[in-house]
Amino acid sequence: MPVPAPNLYPPFNIVRLSHVEYGVRDLAASRAFWVDTLGLQVSYEDDSRIYLRAMEERGHHCVVLAKAETPDVRVLGFKLWDDAALDTAAEWFAARGLPVAWVERPHMGRTLRTADPMGIPLEFYVKMDRLAPIHQQYKLYKGVKPLRIDHFNMFVPDVDAAVAFYGDIGFRVTEYTEDDESGKLWAAWMHRKGGVHDVAFTNGTGPRLHHTAFWVPTPLNIIDLLDLMATTGYVTNIERGPGRHGISNAFFLYVRDPDGHRIEIYCSDYQTVDPDMEPIRWSLTDPQRQTLWGAPAPRSWFEEGSVFAGVAPQEALLKAQPIVAP
Ligand SMILES: [Fe+2]
Repeated sequence: MPVPAPNLYPPFNIVRLSHVEYGVRDLAASRAFWVDTLGLQVSYEDDSRIYLRAMEERGHHCVVLAKAETPDVRVLGFKLWDDAALDTAAEWFAARGLPVAWVERPHMGRTLRTADPMGIPLEFYVKMDRLAPIHQQYKLYKGVKPLRIDHFNMFVPDVDAAVAFYGDIGFRVTEYTEDDESGKLWAAWMHRKGGVHDVAFTNGTGPRLHHTAFWVPTPLNIIDLLDLMATTGYVTNIERGPGRHGISNAFFLYVRDPDGHRIEIYCSDYQTVDPDMEPIRWSLTDPQRQTLWGAPAPRSWFEEGSVFAGVAPQEALLKAQPIVAP
């Protein structure tokens, strides 16, 4: 088995994934998609940025849309347990020769900016502005009724290396895909918060962000979103699904925002809090891996992703071929 044993006593405590900042070319077009179509709530906006949260979230934002010349991803954010963890994280990244800077971020307390060894820009924080609960303000629910950010999925050139690094800082593998021929990892799903994943890694030219996922109440909300997108000019933004994943057992849909950033709508995975939960292995050649019902993903799903600002992607080391829709 290629998956390393979990590190149950990591150097600092990451609570969960928290937020992502996207560079977008046209804020009005992005607002029409993210707010009016998907249904995220605006926490703050001005001429250069829109801050969004989902319905269950008390933190100020889970998405920042920032006006940009070209589409990109500026940072992936994670919440830490306490200030001591934040200081330990700074020391831990510095000791490995990785960049460490304390940055000012609106609506957030002390924020540590760093990067993983592949160059993925990360930020860690403890405090973010808390907003009044809106999860029972049903008049505000729109679009797909997004409840919370669920996970990031990244293309990386070496999934084994990514799993080793994120394993060191406490992410635990729940499911993984192995290339039968080489015995190398082709993809892996890793969590902190007790679901199937906070982060996933997919073999491919990277690092690039493959998608950000949002949890919704039921599969019917996904059907409603499809009807809405199909009749409001977004039919070509529907990329894959709806369906049920083999991996994670979640119901899913993949859509693309006006800049091509991929968003997964996701619901109904399972609890993974047991520290001795065994990871589930899948073969890359299993047609039920991607979709339990057997339908393969389109080529765009394996090849297209969002670049991280200022980070040049590298070709994947592993040349294994997934099942691609004809
Ligand atoms: Fe996903």
